[in-house]
Amino acid sequence: MRRNGIIYTMYNMSAPTGHVFIATSLDGFIARRDGDIEWLVSFPGTQGVDHGYDAFIADIDGLITGRGTYEKVLTMEPWYYNRPVVVLSRQLAGTEPPERLRGKVVFRDETPEEAMAHVAAEGWRRVYVDGGQVIQAFLRAGLIEDMVVTQVPILLGDGLPLFGRTDSDIRLTHQETRSFASGLVQSRFTVDR
Ligand SMILES: NC(=O)c1ccc[n+]([C@@H]2O[C@H](COP(=O)([O-])OP(=O)(O)OC[C@H]3O[C@@H](n4cnc5c(N)ncnc54)[C@H](OP(=O)(O)O)[C@@H]3O)[C@@H](O)[C@H]2O)c1
Repeated sequence: MRRNGIIYTMYNMSAPTGHVFIATSLDGFIARRDGDIEWLVSFPGTQGVDHGYDAFIADIDGLITGRGTYEKVLTMEPWYYNRPVVVLSRQLAGTEPPERLRGKVVFRDETPEEAMAHVAAEGWRRVYVDGGQVIQAFLRAGLIEDMVVTQVPILLGDGLPLFGRTDSDIRLTHQETRSFASGLVQSRFTVDR
C-alpha cells in the first residue's frame, strides 16, 4: 500500500477504490463447491426485480475478478459485463481470451496492490471487485471501500465462502439494509479505516 501510495503521488493520481456487490446464502456461500449458482439465479420471486445492480455498475470503471468467477461467467451468453474486466489468474496470465472477448477481458498475474496500481494507470477510479478468493485477498490488502451483500434465505450447508481468513479483525460500519418481497435482504457496509 505504502509503495503504491508513493506511485500514486508521483503521478498525481488518486488510488482507485474497490467495491463489492455480491449475493450469498444465509450461511455465507457464494456458490456450491462445484461453482453452481442455480440456487441464486432461479431463486423464486427475484426474476425481473431490480436489486440495485444497474445503479451500482453505472458508477464503476471496470472489474477485477478471479478465474473462478470468469470461468462461470464464460458459460453465459451473451457476455454479461459491459465494463472492462481484469481476470487475476496465474494459470491464464500470458494467454489470450477467446476471440469474442478480445478488448473486453485481460488476464493478469498480479497481487491486489499491483492490480489496483495497473488499472489506476489506465484511468480507473472505481473498481468492482468480484470472486470469493479475490474479494478475500482485497479485503486483507485493505483495498475494499464498501460492500453490498445480498443474503438469500437458503442454507447450502457447504460451498465456496464469501469470507475467509483475515490477518486481523476487519471492522465494518453498517450503512443501510433493505429487504425484498422474495426474502432477499441487502445490506451495505463501509470498511473502517
Ligand atoms: N453469489 C454471487 O453473487 C457470486 C459472485 C461472483 C462469483 N460467484 C461464484 O463464485 C465462484 C468463484 O469464486 P471463487 O471463490 O472460486 O473465487 P475467484 O476469486 O472467482 O477465483 C479464484 C481464482 O482466481 C485466481 N487468483 C489470481 N490472483 C488471485 C489472488 N490474488 N487472490 C485470489 N485468487 C487469485 C486463482 O486462479 P489461478 O489458479 O488461475 O491463479 C484462484 O483460484 C463461481 O462459481 C462464481 O459463479 C458468485
